[in-house]
Amino acid sequence: MSGRTKAVPFDSKEYWEDRFSHEEPFDWLLTWDSIRDHLQPYLSPSCEPILHLGCGNSLLALQMTDCGYRKIVNVDYSTCVIEKMKQRTAMTRRYDDLVWLTADCLQDLSPVRPFAGTDGCYRVAIEKSLTDCIACGDDDALSHQRAMATQIASVQPTDGLWISISFSNHREPLPPYRLIDKIPVLVPQENDKPGAPDIYYYLYILQKK
Ligand SMILES: C[S@@+](CC[C@H](N)C(=O)[O-])C[C@H]1O[C@@H](n2cnc3c(N)ncnc32)[C@H](O)[C@@H]1O
Repeated sequence: MSGRTKAVPFDSKEYWEDRFSHEEPFDWLLTWDSIRDHLQPYLSPSCEPILHLGCGNSLLALQMTDCGYRKIVNVDYSTCVIEKMKQRTAMTRRYDDLVWLTADCLQDLSPVRPFAGTDGCYRVAIEKSLTDCIACGDDDALSHQRAMATQIASVQPTDGLWISISFSNHREPLPPYRLIDKIPVLVPQENDKPGAPDIYYYLYILQKK
């Protein structure tokens, strides 16, 4: 056996299918509570339905619904997690307007169109750590992100917002989007030793040109 450590294959669909077959709900990076004050200025009452990409088994859409947002269209390429999230929310009437769909955000987001507004578009798309995940498998570090930008743009109007929540402190330009805000969010750390460095994750607000 080689002494090299094998990286976790975050860009592999099989990895996620296997992980979701036994994982309980889990939120990567940040929870709704820690980002909602930053995001609410971008989430006007007319922004629904909201497109939530790479939803996994995060509780984000449920917690946003508890806060008054109703129509959230949740997408992941893992059929296992989409089925589990459908079942998890089926018992509670206040989650009736949540939609759960299987689609690949790099290849084809057309399955989300029937659930969009009357113009077939979403004013707001949100993803938490999906860009981080697809960047892991990128041969030139950007082709997957560009492919996803093209797919998201195909279901957004001009001026539509793509909210990207990421551990990365850098984002390359992704046409047809321009960066309009970058918000560092201090990561709450339990049991930090005095003098331990602060850790931040980032909210990127991108707008379609
Ligand atoms: C790091 S997890 C983040 C999950 C969730 N957003 C959260 O914050 O807890 C990345 C998610 O993206 C999904 N994913 C990765 N590549 C995808 C793709 N091409 N299309 C759709 N979903 C994808 C994975 O199945 C996984 O649920």
